[in-house]
Amino acid sequence: MAIERTFSIIKPDATKRNLTGKIISKFEDAGLRVVASKRIQMSQAQAEGFYAVHKERPFYGDLCSYMVSGPVVVQVLEGENAIAKNREVMGATNPADAAAGTIRAEFAESIEANSVHGSDAPETAAEEIKFFFTDAELVG
Ligand code: CMP
Repeated sequence: MAIERTFSIIKPDATKRNLTGKIISKFEDAGLRVVASKRIQMSQAQAEGFYAVHKERPFYGDLCSYMVSGPVVVQVLEGENAIAKNREVMGATNPADAAAGTIRAEFAESIEANSVHGSDAPETAAEEIKFFFTDAELVG
């Protein structure tokens, strides 16, 4: 299995409730390593650019407002099959559908305030990592 990198966001609902440590433990317990991490206040322009792929969706405006409603933790996670593994640990986008034990089943408040974001494919992982990190910030 290939060693991959994926991009993760711990969202405002989780940072507000002081859940960053509990969420990072779930990643680490699954064998993912945090190779870059920073807590930031996302700007409106960053939120709109990051989620541009959803521009035509009815939830786009609310999603961007929500993502700037508090600090987030952006991270790069590394490990075997990291993209799929991260998605497994996060659980389904809608917490109502998320499997027991996943981050979203345990912590998410709604489909919007769903605690975490993770890349869905190698191409998006590379783009999303570049959106928030320089190469020098990926420290292993
Ligand atoms: P995320 O993985 O960050 O990618 C896009 C986000 O849009 C998603 O998680 C949800 O938090 C949010 N979202 C809000 N409403 C919906 C919806 N109806 N369907 C999918 N995603 C939604």
